[in-house]
Amino acid sequence: MSSRFDIIHKDAAGRIGRLATPHGVVETPTVMPVINPNLQTIKPSEMRDFGAQILITNSYIIYRKEELREKALKDGLHALLDFDGPIMTDSGSFQLSVYGEVEVTNELIIDFQQKIGTDIAVPLDIPTPPDVDFKRAEEELDITIERLKAARELVTGDGMLLAGPVQGSTYSELRERSARTLSEIGFDIYPFGAVVPLMESYRYADLVDVIAASKKGLDPAAPVHLFGAGHPMMFALAVALGCDLFDSAAYALYAKDRRYITSRGTFHVDNLKYLPCSCPVCMNHSAEELNKAHNCTELLARHNLYVTFQEVRVVKQAIWEGNLLELVEQRCRSHPRMLEALKRMYTYSDWLEKVDPASKSTFFYCGPESSRRPEVLRFANHLDRFTIRGSALIRSSPPGRADKEYDNVLVFKPPFGAYPQELVEIYPLNAEVVRTPDYESLEQAYLNTIKLVELNPEAEFTFIMQERFEHPLVNKLEGMDKFTVVYPQSE
Ligand code: GUN
Ligand code: ZN
Repeated sequence: MSSRFDIIHKDAAGRIGRLATPHGVVETPTVMPVINPNLQTIKPSEMRDFGAQILITNSYIIYRKEELREKALKDGLHALLDFDGPIMTDSGSFQLSVYGEVEVTNELIIDFQQKIGTDIAVPLDIPTPPDVDFKRAEEELDITIERLKAARELVTGDGMLLAGPVQGSTYSELRERSARTLSEIGFDIYPFGAVVPLMESYRYADLVDVIAASKKGLDPAAPVHLFGAGHPMMFALAVALGCDLFDSAAYALYAKDRRYITSRGTFHVDNLKYLPCSCPVCMNHSAEELNKAHNCTELLARHNLYVTFQEVRVVKQAIWEGNLLELVEQRCRSHPRMLEALKRMYTYSDWLEKVDPASKSTFFYCGPESSRRPEVLRFANHLDRFTIRGSALIRSSPPGRADKEYDNVLVFKPPFGAYPQELVEIYPLNAEVVRTPDYESLEQAYLNTIKLVELNPEAEFTFIMQERFEHPLVNKLEGMDKFTVVYPQSE
């Protein structure tokens, strides 16, 4: 099967891509606004004005209501919604997860999606919730895979795209295995399913585990959809982990609860004194006017959509510039549970390191978590490429007269450690870092330095220590053979 997804730019596991559908090409990452075919305040035909390129709706809701079903079968899905761009349809699996059963079979709903001319169809997968016992997760996964295989046999040709949802509850082993099996069958996009309960309960760190495990089972070039993720606060994180498509019912659901979305979190409209946004809604209303407006729900939905697509553009620009991880580190300071997710993400730095581009824009140190970035890990993994013989000065100060007395001059820069001074301008060692390093970056820098010393037993090191570089690991360095720590009288 020819690939319908081209990757044009990368950063961390994130990418800017182009997905070809029967109704046109979609540039990712992007969000698909969820259209409720029964009641929809913002018309599908208006969605492009907000930045939407592709919509998602529910074929099961259309199927169940005779009037909608007949019109969709007669005139097609695009006429029903009055939108001529790409449309993805879900299958009723979400209703299955909420109500326990649905009135359709997998074969029927796939056939229906095909007949109404959807661009991307979804089989009737089983969204197994988090934390169920392993046996249930595995049994439901087996049924899902059987249904996906059946769907794959029904959908042939290069028209409609077919999605293969990855399930497996909160078991990384099942998620990875499921992704690998689906890859072998071959789908056009891979949604990661049943993550809504994790997001609703702020379990972003567990969400990171689900995404990382599922991604590991997939071809890195395959397009990924994070099912039910619509809050812009987590886009940067999910994109950095390799998600390409999102869907948002959040813009409308939050509005119904009178909630105003921002990329740093959500406000209740009653708590808004100012409107921290420049979208048309916020420029044309004061906070009080917005609160009192008879159409407050609609205005909030519009604002929520604007900021959702604004964040998509912020994320894309960060990928383009090569500072997506800096953006993730900023966004993850919006909520302690997001900070937890950031820390969890960097437990996968060995995986991120394999996909992260070798050179990009200047590394900015944003806090202790930056010490775990894939670039730092890559530097540590490649320490054996340096061969140091004879005497070696390690300094953190500018070049000085003492330099020429040594065979080698190394620069000490946390969180990396010591490296030959010829590399100071080379990415990522040209990093912008804080002058007074935190404990974590010193820890990483000294661990790397210890490793470098061990790798070069012939060399004799002199380290010019400064007060701001104090750390328990200095004792360990001082105890090493052929390693001298020098304390200058004053800095
Ligand atoms: N919408 C939110 N989660 C899911 C899921 O796991 N599967 C499907 N088909 N739709 C969803
Ligand atoms: Zn606004």
